[in-house]
Amino acid sequence: MSKAYVTLLTNESYLPGALTLAQKLKTELKTKHKLVILIDSSALSTESIDLIKQVYDVAIAIDDDLINAPLDKLVQRLGRSELSITFTKVLLWNLTDYDTLIYLDSDTLPLADLDHLFEEYKDLTAEQIAASPDAGWPDIFNSGVLVLKPDADVFSKLLEFTTVDNNTFDGADQGLLNEFFNVASAGKNWVRLPYVYNVTPNYSGAYQYLPALHRFFSSIKLLHYIGQTKPWHAEDILGTDFDNLHHYWWGDFNKFYAKDATLKAKLLSIPKGEAYNLNFAKYSNQWDADKDAGAKFHIALEKDTPAQPPLFPWEHKEERTPTRVFESHAPAVEESSGVPKSKVEDDLRESIETLSNVNVSKDEGVKSPPLSQSYGFGKQSKGFNPDKSLAEVAKLPLKFLSKNKNKGEEK
Ligand code: UDP
Ligand code: GLC
Ligand code: MN
Repeated sequence: MSKAYVTLLTNESYLPGALTLAQKLKTELKTKHKLVILIDSSALSTESIDLIKQVYDVAIAIDDDLINAPLDKLVQRLGRSELSITFTKVLLWNLTDYDTLIYLDSDTLPLADLDHLFEEYKDLTAEQIAASPDAGWPDIFNSGVLVLKPDADVFSKLLEFTTVDNNTFDGADQGLLNEFFNVASAGKNWVRLPYVYNVTPNYSGAYQYLPALHRFFSSIKLLHYIGQTKPWHAEDILGTDFDNLHHYWWGDFNKFYAKDATLKAKLLSIPKGEAYNLNFAKYSNQWDADKDAGAKFHIALEKDTPAQPPLFPWEHKEERTPTRVFESHAPAVEESSGVPKSKVEDDLRESIETLSNVNVSKDEGVKSPPLSQSYGFGKQSKGFNPDKSLAEVAKLPLKFLSKNKNKGEEK
């Protein structure tokens, strides 16, 4: 019985992801296991299928077996109709030629060897699933990285489970698989993988525990680019969000596919998929608001991006006509371009220079960028020198300080 990595690809819009994932596992991380892909071949060009076959060992056509999730619920809960086909992940349990599978979404990028997981989870039962906690609700697992045991009996139970709309709380596979393996057994059938096996960094502006990201950066095994905007949608990191770590994906994609400029251009001209442009009234997930939420870095750069509605009351910023007008100090204009130079742009360029020096090397592991520069932590204005300022404070007459102190105590 064998083991394999497997991913899902139902159309061209995730092709750059699926190809980069496989290249990374095979040519760089040198996995000793087979790479399997479930494809809807009717939605892929022959050229794309050829590219897939160059790197995947087994391509399984699932054209007639796609399983659809309840679209209304999905649109209402997640607002991402393109995920309705993700119920198809249930087919993984039908791949009974394999005794253990590591399923990876095609928007994942392993940074380190994952083969040891097969050994570590060899005693998993077919009723269990191993997965990392979801960063947005850690009592639930994220279904982008799964270790599982295919099994005919579990497959038929799961298939039956998909027929009841209420069995998924997000309208897609994550809600379904959690109900089945996690909620129904009160957590007993979910085996927790550490978060480093499924780090979801593109939470721009949303809650992310940055000190931990920084502390454990070098231990990250896999990045998972959740959300509607995938790395291959924009190469220009100035135009995408800053803390999303897309440049790791780009580094690898370019390594594998940039030598052939025509091929690269073709892969990147693939449309994002019809669903991408549909605008539904929906519960919005923070990670989908990323164009706006990274405002601190976008102000000067994405002037054309329409503003997103505020999520919290304190985010309302009313535009008011000024009642008093101060003398203006025109911003410095760069001579060559005539474009005003803003401090935000300066800071961003400086931070990006830092990031572009970050690289992934097999021997040294992943190097984290300095927290203060890459994540906007602890940034101090250039004119501020803490030592000097302390010295200045120390020179203040003692009386002056104690007077203020007494004042404070009187209150
Ligand atoms: N997928 C696909 N075609 C689609 C949508 C999704 O093949 O149109 C597959 C792909 O492997 C993808 C996975 O389903 O990685 C789950 O979707 P996605 O990664 O976009 O979900 P997210 O992780 O952003 O929630
Ligand atoms: C999650 C998972 C993804 C899944 C989606 C819908 O964000 O990353 O794999 O398809 O939710 O349930
Ligand atoms: Mn994903």
